[in-house]
Amino acid sequence: MRALVRETTLEPGDLIYPLFLCPGESVRREVSSMPGVFNLSIDEAVCEAEEAAALGIGGLLLFGLPETKDEVGTGAWDQNGIVQQGLRAIKLSSAAKKLVLIADVCLCEYTSHGHCGIVAETSEGWTVKNDPTLDLLAKTGASLALAGADIVAPSDMMDGRVAAIRAALDKAGCEDTPILSYASKFASAFYGPFREAADSAPQFGDRKTYQMDGANIREAMREIDLDLGEGADMILMKPAMPYLDVIRAARERVDVPIGAYQVSGEYSMLQAAFARGWLDRDRAILESLLGIRRAGADFAVTYFAKDAAKLLA
Ligand code: PBG
Repeated sequence: MRALVRETTLEPGDLIYPLFLCPGESVRREVSSMPGVFNLSIDEAVCEAEEAAALGIGGLLLFGLPETKDEVGTGAWDQNGIVQQGLRAIKLSSAAKKLVLIADVCLCEYTSHGHCGIVAETSEGWTVKNDPTLDLLAKTGASLALAGADIVAPSDMMDGRVAAIRAALDKAGCEDTPILSYASKFASAFYGPFREAADSAPQFGDRKTYQMDGANIREAMREIDLDLGEGADMILMKPAMPYLDVIRAARERVDVPIGAYQVSGEYSMLQAAFARGWLDRDRAILESLLGIRRAGADFAVTYFAKDAAKLLA
């Protein structure tokens, strides 16, 4: 009877599993602050993709750790970049037909300074230059789509990047590739463990000049409106648990598909509690994801995707 009257559903197909691709072969390096999450060489990532497909997971979100970094993040749009190679390999595997491949579009994993855009010196210190960054993000988005990404997902939070990426996709002949925009991404302490996983911690300063102030929900709605106006097809809310009210507000405002990202810090704090026996692992994983769905997200990006899919099987 409970099943009959349940208002919110959670299925493996609602889940997106993030993978961190790194150079090499047979590499499976656990991220110390994210037990159960690994930097994976492409051969290992293909195995993960096959496992995810077998579990009925909806898709993968791909991040890359390049061999080398530079000031402008050249590795992000290199046709032989780490994620581009990974996309081509996964597309050739049997998993490809069952999984949506989403490529994160950002420069922070590829820049030597770890910021999401071009950095310039000013009389008051440094600044991230919004407009000159757009061209690089646009090139990156097109290059990932050409390599096989089914969806590109800009997470940099520069203003105007959705329009720039849309134009570059269309020009490259990828007019059918949708944009999943991290439209309202808050400057959050909960990204801490990710920055170890993706080796993308800013070498100076923070991301508060381009990511949002956690105090602002009206501004979040304005950011969403702007991205949809520029042509975003879906939006990704982030983080999830501390911002469930923002997901709900977005759900009530717009009709596009909405995803929510249960970010690294949300994952790691639950894992830390599980390790101490302080929380019931299986119940807490599913409850945390159900809460995201109930808040209004159609799908959730989560490092628990495989665990949750097994629990839901
Ligand atoms: C890249 C990016 C970040 C995350 C996703 N894309 C890090 C950041 O903005 O610092 C965070 C994901 C997570 O914490 O799991 N800009």
